[in-house]
Amino acid sequence: MPNDTRLTIRRPDDWHVHLRDGDVMRGVLPYTVRQFARAIVMPNLSPPIADVDAAIAYRERILAALPQGSDFTPLMTCYLTDSTDPAELARGFAEGVFTAAKLYPAHATTGSAHGVTDVANIAKPLETMQDIGMPLLVHGEVTDPGTDIFDREAVFIERILAPLVGRLPDLKLVFEHITTADAVGFVESAGPNVAATITPQHLHINRNAMFAGGLRPHAYCLPVAKREKHRLALRKAATSGSPKYFLGTDSAPHAVSAKESACGCAGIFNAPFALESYAAVFDEEGALDRLEGFASEHGPRFYGLPLNDGSVTLERTDVEVPAVLDACGTPIVPFHAGEAIGWRIVP
Ligand code: DOR
Ligand code: ZN
Repeated sequence: MPNDTRLTIRRPDDWHVHLRDGDVMRGVLPYTVRQFARAIVMPNLSPPIADVDAAIAYRERILAALPQGSDFTPLMTCYLTDSTDPAELARGFAEGVFTAAKLYPAHATTGSAHGVTDVANIAKPLETMQDIGMPLLVHGEVTDPGTDIFDREAVFIERILAPLVGRLPDLKLVFEHITTADAVGFVESAGPNVAATITPQHLHINRNAMFAGGLRPHAYCLPVAKREKHRLALRKAATSGSPKYFLGTDSAPHAVSAKESACGCAGIFNAPFALESYAAVFDEEGALDRLEGFASEHGPRFYGLPLNDGSVTLERTDVEVPAVLDACGTPIVPFHAGEAIGWRIVP
């Protein structure tokens, strides 16, 4: 339980992170490893991680890039395509290579060009996943250009997700990085096999942040931040104590030049101060006693994995977030750049 200035919780996990590859991976990994014991690693590389061999090789590269002496387990995911083989999924899951599979609707976001063009095309893989208890992780946005970008999640629920859950009522499903009151309502109304991750940015900012005095590319991610009423619904859900919501940063590093561009990439690099950022939200909501459930308990229980040993202590104090960080040669602007966060992790 918190006292006035310090809070100690069980070591947390990040149930949704983009680690990338190569030098950038080597540069960003230490931030995740500093805070989290495990992380669900997104497979949207180029080419995507879409079979068992690719996932084994990627996992090896992550392990080789870890700072010396780290204690960190990457949990790998399989990128679903129109031609995913259900037997490959089942083999990867049985062998402990895949923890889950990720559904990107084709062209919904960064690295989704090989994604699924119609969920009907993955009917068989999804049936197999339901049968073997393998979680489906969903990027929940429709992609048709006729749908307003701020409505893409709500329309996805109605057109794709609700019918999918109706057809496969026992499928374990994580609605990733939810951004709307509609998504909270959907998760609430579904069974215990349907859960959601929530990012720090969607708890902190609404869509105004992208236009504060000019275009703000570092506040742009997908799904895009929505109206204030949605942010408030997410804060209520995350701090409610419900086991259906857990920590998933969606930390998505892009070089400054790729963000500050005529066509800037989607993604917010929040890994450097992720836990501190969540702690600030739970503090503001008077719910610090519920941070441990959200960060360290609900995720493993949903995935059927053991809780971590060990703990991390946060301290209430102002920390300045740098304007830019260097990821082994690539400059990247972190979330909260140039601001003070009211918490720090005690080393
Ligand atoms: O903003 C995002 N960035 N959303 C995603 O879904 C993908 C991610 C990335 O990989 O950069
Ligand atoms: Zn993501």
